[in-house]
Amino acid sequence: MFKLTGKKAIVTGGGSGIGKAIALVFARQGAEVHVVELHEAAAYETRAEIEAAGGLVFIHTCDVSRQDQVNKVFEAIGGVDILVNNAGIAHVGNLENTSEADLDRIYQVNVKGAYNCLQAAVSRMREQGGGTILNLASIVSHVGIPDRFAYSMSKGAIHAMTLSVAKDYLSDNIRCNSVSPARVHTPFVDGFIAKNYPGKEDEMFEKLSKTQPIGRMARPEEVAALALFLCSDEAAFITGCDYPIDGGFIKLNN
Ligand SMILES: NC(=O)c1ccc[n+]([C@@H]2O[C@H](COP(=O)([O-])OP(=O)(O)OC[C@H]3O[C@@H](n4cnc5c(N)ncnc54)[C@H](O)[C@@H]3O)[C@@H](O)[C@H]2O)c1
Repeated sequence: MFKLTGKKAIVTGGGSGIGKAIALVFARQGAEVHVVELHEAAAYETRAEIEAAGGLVFIHTCDVSRQDQVNKVFEAIGGVDILVNNAGIAHVGNLENTSEADLDRIYQVNVKGAYNCLQAAVSRMREQGGGTILNLASIVSHVGIPDRFAYSMSKGAIHAMTLSVAKDYLSDNIRCNSVSPARVHTPFVDGFIAKNYPGKEDEMFEKLSKTQPIGRMARPEEVAALALFLCSDEAAFITGCDYPIDGGFIKLNN
């Protein structure tokens, strides 16, 4: 079960955190993995790990917010069976202290980046007779979290785009789902703690860990396991769904 042999999988932001864990597990399950990543050095590290484990991987340096770059990369890859829209950036702030520039930046990467890759993938999947898409949403797509105005806007959009794409491409045999993690311990979390709570890193890490009723953050590999299921043929009956992976955050935080 859960084999991806013969499938071409594109993982955006596969140089770090959740995307890296997804790239590693997809390669282990037999996929030809294409890491689409802004940071070349990070992509090289993922490639080295996959190759050391005997997997098949190609890396593409690309800013997903740039449609010209995305189209060029998808053209070079040639076909796609699985797309994981994972590349994303964080922002801390409420409505009033979120600047226009911050809002635009979050939109460009988290929303337009996903749109660019969805658009490039869907036509190719249709030509091939089908495909599977997984988008990285978040608990903020579903519940209110303090000081996440722009980020929530972007992840709400991811959830809505997932439903829209799932609906429009049903007859093309393209499945589209999303996952909504609570906090996952990745450089993304470490980065925003360091940036937004300097000097209070340990205290904030502890505090954020405890906001999951289960008492800790997720591991990237735990999200990758769910991604593998949803992108495998075993999940062929699942489309237009969002899966929280949140240690009880959405339903048990009361
Ligand atoms: N870590 C969490 O707690 C958490 C929770 C819920 C959802 N998510 C979502 O999961 C996804 C991955 O998060 P992570 O924690 O692994 O982050 P991360 O920062 O560890 O990795 C993100 C990767 O995306 C790449 N990237 C950023 N901007 C890019 C761009 N414009 N073009 C191409 N690549 C780009 C980065 O270089 C990095 O390698 C994000 O969409 C994030 O919003 C994360």
